[in-house]
Amino acid sequence: MPEFVKTGIEGLDSILNGGIVENAAVLVSGNPGTGKSLLGLQYLYNGVDMFDEGGIYLTFEESKDDISQAAQSIGFEKWDDFVEEGRIKIYDKRTLLKSGDFSETLDTILEDLQDTKYDRLVLDPLTMFQLFFEDEKEQRQYLLKFIDILKDSGLTSILTMEQSAVFPETEIGLENFLTDGNIYLIQSPAGSTSNRYVWVAKMRKQAIKNSMFPLEIDDGGLKVYEQAAGFSMVGESPPMFSEGEGGGAGGLE
Ligand SMILES: Nc1ncnc2c1ncn2[C@@H]1O[C@H](COP(=O)(O)OP(=O)(O)OP(=O)(O)O)[C@@H](O)[C@H]1O
Ligand SMILES: [Mg+2]
Repeated sequence: MPEFVKTGIEGLDSILNGGIVENAAVLVSGNPGTGKSLLGLQYLYNGVDMFDEGGIYLTFEESKDDISQAAQSIGFEKWDDFVEEGRIKIYDKRTLLKSGDFSETLDTILEDLQDTKYDRLVLDPLTMFQLFFEDEKEQRQYLLKFIDILKDSGLTSILTMEQSAVFPETEIGLENFLTDGNIYLIQSPAGSTSNRYVWVAKMRKQAIKNSMFPLEIDDGGLKVYEQAAGFSMVGESPPMFSEGEGGGAGGLE
């Protein structure tokens, strides 16, 4: 039996049947605002808070302060303490883009990762990382090397990607194939509001529940509603529970 690394996100570990397989690299994809960064923050925060596992956060888009504000806004009150104590280590856009030579920066990070005491890593977003490589071949080589180093370093990783889950319109990128797992975050319009869903499309070495499950983002972070599986995404009504079906007229005794 493989060992699992728990996300600590309500409902998600259960649809993953235990969590993420240790040392796996999982791609979390979705359109803007679907919750990719928050999922990453929560994965690291819970890691320290619930499981005493340290984490590394690599981001090309935000500064340390932005991340801290995002964490506070969602209720991760101990985020700054964890960062100060070194239990969460951040490489933000300033660190990552400081030297003009990206491959040099990358080499430094990869060196740092070897023999690391950390257990979890989030790269947000992977899309940016790839812009630094000229052609697809180089991207693929670096991505493979990067994922290998993460695994060898004993890290269980989440890589985010700006990619929608609308198939076949969306071309499936090589990132989906090179990673061990693919999770999609989906936001779909519903009347005057919108509904959120999570879909685990693949997870190597792991039995998963691969329906779409309702997702909520609120104070405390992401929450997945596992009991509302198998509903249709069509229509405006919220997910139906099976007890609600067939009720109504004629039910009086
Ligand atoms: N405190 C909060 N309470 C409720 N919802 C929140 C809260 N903070 C953020 N959100 C919701 O989460 C969404 C942001 O999620 P996040 O930044 O993780 O998205 P993302 O997928 O990383 O987007 P992008 O691709 O633009 O980076 C916001 O659009 C907002 O709807
Ligand atoms: Mg983001």
